[in-house]
Amino acid sequence: MAGKILVTGGMGYIGSHTVVELQQNGYQAVILDNLSNSKPGMLDLITQITGIKPEFINLDMQERDGLEVFFREHHDLEGVIHFAAYKAVGESVENPLMYYRNNLGSLINMLACMTGSRAAKHLVFSSSCTVYGQPEVLPVSENAPVKPAMSPYGNTKQISEEIIEDTCQASKKFSAISLRYFNPIGAHESGLLGELPLGVPNNLVPFITQTAIGKRKQLTVFGNDYDTPDGTCIRDYIHVSDLARAHVVALERMLKKQNKESHEIFNLGTGRGYSVLEAVNAFEKTTGVKLNWKFSDRRPGDVEKVWADTGKANKVLGWKAERGLEEMMATAWKWEVNLNEGLMK
Ligand code: UD1
Repeated sequence: MAGKILVTGGMGYIGSHTVVELQQNGYQAVILDNLSNSKPGMLDLITQITGIKPEFINLDMQERDGLEVFFREHHDLEGVIHFAAYKAVGESVENPLMYYRNNLGSLINMLACMTGSRAAKHLVFSSSCTVYGQPEVLPVSENAPVKPAMSPYGNTKQISEEIIEDTCQASKKFSAISLRYFNPIGAHESGLLGELPLGVPNNLVPFITQTAIGKRKQLTVFGNDYDTPDGTCIRDYIHVSDLARAHVVALERMLKKQNKESHEIFNLGTGRGYSVLEAVNAFEKTTGVKLNWKFSDRRPGDVEKVWADTGKANKVLGWKAERGLEEMMATAWKWEVNLNEGLMK
């Protein structure tokens, strides 16, 4: 069996898929999560898919003492994949200190534990394409300038990357890979894992599936006057299982000492952009369910169009997204139907 890997936020949307991917590649996944945006039932669903129950510790990573005890008890960790963070853009504008305290405090505590412990010198960090703002050149490559953040949430991703960079410079044995995700959507093919938005979803696909199932009356498409072929925003949607696999590939790159720099950065997208209307159409076509939707004004802070240059991830990391938009929509729908039938109750 391959080594023991810590997944912080491993009960969440991308974290739970990554735990499955790790287990299916022979790794022993250990989950740290405070269940602030996830449910304990996730553990059983992971176990149902892989047949292996991961170790789970309920801990808030802002508690430095508790985290130190955890690292002392888990001195045989080979690496860490760090997801644990808040991620709602609007909430971060309303309550910036909560975002800075949690997202940066947890990261700093973890880096202090990692650099201070004998084990776990490799970190995979969950970053975002939000660091590029509206890029001048599309597709956007990792060399594009990082733009001033449009929200405290986005700023925590930028500052986190800088903190990780400085830590890699200061600590010779330490290495990290920051993965800048484009728009993760979809669910595990089994329909047993997916996104669990708290309250009214902010993101497009959970809003689509909740409207289709009848939890929401109508989907609002924000803006139809953008400079795009159909006037709606364009994003690079990527299947969460493709994304999860990239984390395992990134981790192995460091474990095998194949990384060229102590802190590397990769875009994770498909390289293909779809408009909001194309996403809506793909959902309707794949599921056969008609969506009730209307146009409204633009949502403040939205960028017009962004999609990834995936060349570096393809060539250097040796990873490529495989699943298309219809599979993303079909799996997201399967998950929503399962939730509606009481999967998490
Ligand atoms: C947002 C965040 C991004 C974060 C990501 C994951 C912003 C500017 N960006 O990405 O930093 O990493 O979520 O949490 O907030 N849309 C509708 N109707 C809806 C919802 C969305 O038309 O009800 C449109 C949006 O205008 C956008 C597209 O769908 O054009 C995708 O939106 P969303 O899923 O919220 O993701 P982003 O805004 O791209």
